[in-house]
Order: sequence, then C-alpha cells, then structure tokens
Amino acid sequence: MSKSLQAIRGMNDILPEQTPVWRYFEGTVSRLLDNYGYKQIRMPIVEFTELFKRSIGEVTDIVEKEMYTFDDRNGDSLTLRPEGTAACVRAVLEHGITGGGQVQKLWYIGPMFRHERPQKGRYRQFHQIGLEVFNLDGPDIDAELIIMTWRLWGELGIRDAVKLELNSLGTSESRGRYREALVEYLSAHHDKLDEDSQRRLKTNPLRVLDTKNADTQAVLVDAPKMADYLDDESRAHFEGLKARLDAVGIPYVFNPKLVRGLDYYSKTVFEWVTDKLGAQGTVCAGGRYDGLVEQMGGKPTPGVGFAMGIERLVLMLETLEQIPQELARQVDVYLCAFGEEAELAGLALAERVRDQLPNLRLQVNAGAGSFKSQFKKADKSGALYALILGDDEMAQQVVGFKPLRGQGEQQSIAWDALAAHLATCVVQG
Ligand code: HAM
Repeated sequence: MSKSLQAIRGMNDILPEQTPVWRYFEGTVSRLLDNYGYKQIRMPIVEFTELFKRSIGEVTDIVEKEMYTFDDRNGDSLTLRPEGTAACVRAVLEHGITGGGQVQKLWYIGPMFRHERPQKGRYRQFHQIGLEVFNLDGPDIDAELIIMTWRLWGELGIRDAVKLELNSLGTSESRGRYREALVEYLSAHHDKLDEDSQRRLKTNPLRVLDTKNADTQAVLVDAPKMADYLDDESRAHFEGLKARLDAVGIPYVFNPKLVRGLDYYSKTVFEWVTDKLGAQGTVCAGGRYDGLVEQMGGKPTPGVGFAMGIERLVLMLETLEQIPQELARQVDVYLCAFGEEAELAGLALAERVRDQLPNLRLQVNAGAGSFKSQFKKADKSGALYALILGDDEMAQQVVGFKPLRGQGEQQSIAWDALAAHLATCVVQG
C-alpha cells in the first residue's frame, strides 16, 4: 500500500475485535463515575495553543516538543489537545460553572495527542478517561479519587498488579523555597549531572528529580528533600490523605521524587504504576492544582483530578487475562430463513421479538443463501441458538429452535411463544 494511505505512526485503528474490551472498560468506568456522583463534560479536541502553554507550562516536555501545533486558515495557532485538564479549566471558566464556590465533579473521555516516540503503551494519539473536581480543597476529595480508582482496579481484576505512589509538592511558596535549595545543591554538583539535567536545572529544576540517569541519581541521594520544605498546611493535607487511605486499607508508597511532567500541580500528586507493561508503567496519574484556575484568569479555585490511559489499561486486562468471557460472544440468537416468504415472515418476527426483549442480541441472516451457508454463518457468529424458518415452519407458523453449543435437540416454537421462550434461555445483558 502506498505510504500516504497508511495511518499516521503512533495513531491506531481500534478494530472490531478489540472494541468489545474498550467498551467493557469504558462502561465499567462510566458506571462507577455515575455512582460516585461525577458528571460528564465534553470539550473540543482542538484549542488555542496559548491555553496549553499557560497551564501545562512552557518548559515541560509536552509543550516544548510534543504538541501537534498548527496555524489554521485565519492564522490562529491551534493545538490538538495533549491532555484534558487545561481544556476542562477553560470550559468551566468560560461557562462560569465554578463561580461562587460551586462544586463541580466532572469527567471526560477522548483522544489526546502527543508527538512522543511510539512504543508499547505509548502512542501519539491515545485515549484518556479523566476527571476534575473544583472547589473542594480538603484531603477527603483527594482520597475519594484514589478510593474510586482502587475500586475500579478491583472490579477489573487488576488490583494486585498496580501500586500507588504518592507525594506532596506543597504550595507554590513552599515549592519555591525548595526549588531554590535544590538549585543551589545541584549547581554545586553541576559537572556530575547528565546533559538533560543540566538543562533542566536552568528551566525546570524539580524535573531533575525524575531523571533516569544513574550518575545524576547518585548526586540526588544527598540532595535537599522536598518533604523538609513542606509548609504546615500541605503537611496536614498530606497526613489527612494518608489517614483516609489507611482507613479504607489502600496501600501506598511515598515517593519523594514523584514530581509529574506538568507544571500545574500543588500539594498531592499520585501515580498508579504497574510492572506488567514494560517501560510505560503508569496507568493513571494526577494530583491537586489549587493555583491553576487563578493562573488561567479565574478566581482562586481549588482543583484536583487524574487521568488514566485507556490503551494501557486495556493492555493490562489482556496481559492479566482479565477479559470477561461473555465479551467473546456478541450474538445470542441467529435467525436463518429460507425462501422469500420465510424471509419476510422472519423480518416481522424478529421485530416482534425485539419489541419484547430489547436487550436480546438477535441477528437476522442477510444475503439469503443455502441451508448450509446460513448455518455456517449462524455458527460463526457465536450465537447460542439458531432460529430456522423454512417451508415446513411457515406452514405450521412455528420456528425451529436449535441449540448451537451442545445441549438439547431442535424443537418447534410457536411464533407467539418465541419471545417468552427466548427470555428463559438467554441471559440478557
Ligand atoms: P499524564 O500523566 O500526562 O497526566 O497522563 C495521564 C495518563 O495518560 C498516563 O498515566 C498514561 O496512562 C496516559 N498517557 C499519557 N501519555 C500517553 C501516551 N503517549 N500513550 C498512551 N498513554 C498515555 C495528564 O494528562 C493530566 N491531565 C492528568 C490530570 C488530570 N491531572 C489532574 N487532572
């Protein structure tokens, strides 16, 4: 195939054989979010570039080198959203729905775009389910976010494979004091730092803590500790969060080097990580951003949220073989009709059954065909039962009811009794 007709590198089709798992995952998460009282918001995929620069931070990897940015026909600089928090803050401000201290508990789902080097679990178009809460500043809501994800991992059967890492970045004042101390220390060891860290020391020193370079890591062993610079309020907030996680029995690891790659965080930051996916092990991440709304032109409004990567979680379900068996079957019943008259009667019968059993997955054969070919299609569809309408059945106003997966002989069911009979044999989702 010529190159221009291929999908863009790092941007994937999600094929019909994969979508049942995606829908299972999305359905499980959205039901959970409904149950905890979160409401869905939908934002555009494209925003003014300035939005992301101002919120995520000019000297982050995302803004410096990963955004899909272009001028539109009016000459405005636009960007495909690399994440959802910035657009969500823009939306609540634009519509005034966080004014006067109104609490908003919002979630969103959709594609995000980052020009990263594609590999397993890392793509250029990927999908997140994200969540943002506004106007609640206590650790109770931070805890709720984590408790909710913990429940999700339980429902999905992956709880044993994920670990929670926590840190507190403090307020912008305490972080400022810590940054100064860190810069002073690292500057004294400048020559021992890797090139990237030397650059970050000037632009975004906290990100040096995140380094993978062994020499720089060695320098960091004796570096000032963020925890020693935390202000009392942040410390109490963090203790409050940990007490709530302890109360519910959620294990966590304090990771003083967890700083996150986006600049808007304050106080709580957390990541759920796994060792089951190779290098791209963070499946869900977020934290508090109490200064962001004000920084974006709103009144001071506390905020906290997270986002999870759907591709990574689907990979987890596959790797840990936690895909419910019933997803494999997409059809309950397959109706075969032979001859024009039977086909017309079959169509009408199928609609009557669907009226009575709206959740039944009933597929009517299309494209006619011999007995053999229709039966083959019925079997291939994965259906539990085939319904058969031929000359004999037409004459008697019955339908042949044939189990396709073992148990039971074919029997004849009167048209009027068909829906009631199906209701007893098929468990409907
Ligand atoms: P993030 O850490 O940049 O945070 O992304 C959140 C999650 O999205 C990651 O943990 C990962 O599962 C997934 N993800 C990120 N990049 C990729 C990629 N290239 N390919 C596949 N999956 C990826 C945020 O986006 C923040 N907006 C989260 C947040 C919401 N903080 C507060 N509210």
